[in-house]
Amino acid sequence: MKIVIRGLISVIGAGKVGSAAAFNILRFRISDVVLVDVIQNLAQGEALDMMQAAPAIEFDGRVIGTHDFRDIEGSEIVVMTAGMGRKPGMTRIDLMNHNAKIVRSAAKEVSKYAPDCKLMMVTNPVDIMTYVAYKESGFERNRVFGMGNILDTMRFRSYIAVEFGVSREDVRALVVGEHGDSMVPLLDYASISGIPIKDLLQPEQIERIVRLTRTSGADVIKLKGSTIHAPGVVIAIMVDAVLRGRNRVMSVSTFLKGEYGQSDISIGVPVILGRNGVEKILELKFSPETSKQFEHSVSFIKDAIGRMTY
Ligand code: 2OP
Repeated sequence: MKIVIRGLISVIGAGKVGSAAAFNILRFRISDVVLVDVIQNLAQGEALDMMQAAPAIEFDGRVIGTHDFRDIEGSEIVVMTAGMGRKPGMTRIDLMNHNAKIVRSAAKEVSKYAPDCKLMMVTNPVDIMTYVAYKESGFERNRVFGMGNILDTMRFRSYIAVEFGVSREDVRALVVGEHGDSMVPLLDYASISGIPIKDLLQPEQIERIVRLTRTSGADVIKLKGSTIHAPGVVIAIMVDAVLRGRNRVMSVSTFLKGEYGQSDISIGVPVILGRNGVEKILELKFSPETSKQFEHSVSFIKDAIGRMTY
């Protein structure tokens, strides 16, 4: 019997990150969730587990686990987490060819069963998977975006707060570029309650924070095999921004058509994220040093796209 539910949000991939994201979406009472996985019973088991938690998180919606893509019908947002995750010592780019095949076929299914959705990419390397999903789905570019630098930004903010001994709430920052080793934390735009961090921290402190931010995902993977909590909650924040039309300013991977002097690439840049997905791309002024780092990140991604075989 075909399940027809108005699950506003579907999560493709019921692995560690996908199930954490689904549970956070329920926990924040953002929406019903359809959780999809090709592995028999995995999504169904995760959904049952979450449904049993529902009274404790006062969630009265519905969470459905399925392995049938057709059940994403009617989704307003589809979150794509399907694919292999990094093992200790791997870079995200190492996953490219394997995951591109999965994303390519999944994007086709999404455009078939949820043709009006916003498609949020999480599968790594997320900038390149956003590029693949954009090309394969045939969606307008504002409806396809990747969760990368917003996660890097949260980590950057966290390390700044710890270093200076203040609440994370008062730290604001942005990271742009590749969601990977060539990411560019924007030092000129990082502040604690509007006070530039350069006025509060020594250069060597800032260098350490940047280094920690760059390796933060790999550092967790080295210790416990995969990241779960940070991506899981950041996905929920992004879904909330889109579903509730909150027009939040955050750095996401999006397809550029001339912005920052770049085209035919998906890369992390600051955008306004709202009901239509990427409502607007914000073009910031970069210092010469930041421009050089950003261009390095662009060429790294473009080179990888050129080497992709899928
Ligand atoms: C991370 O950095 C999954 O790429 C994601 O945790």
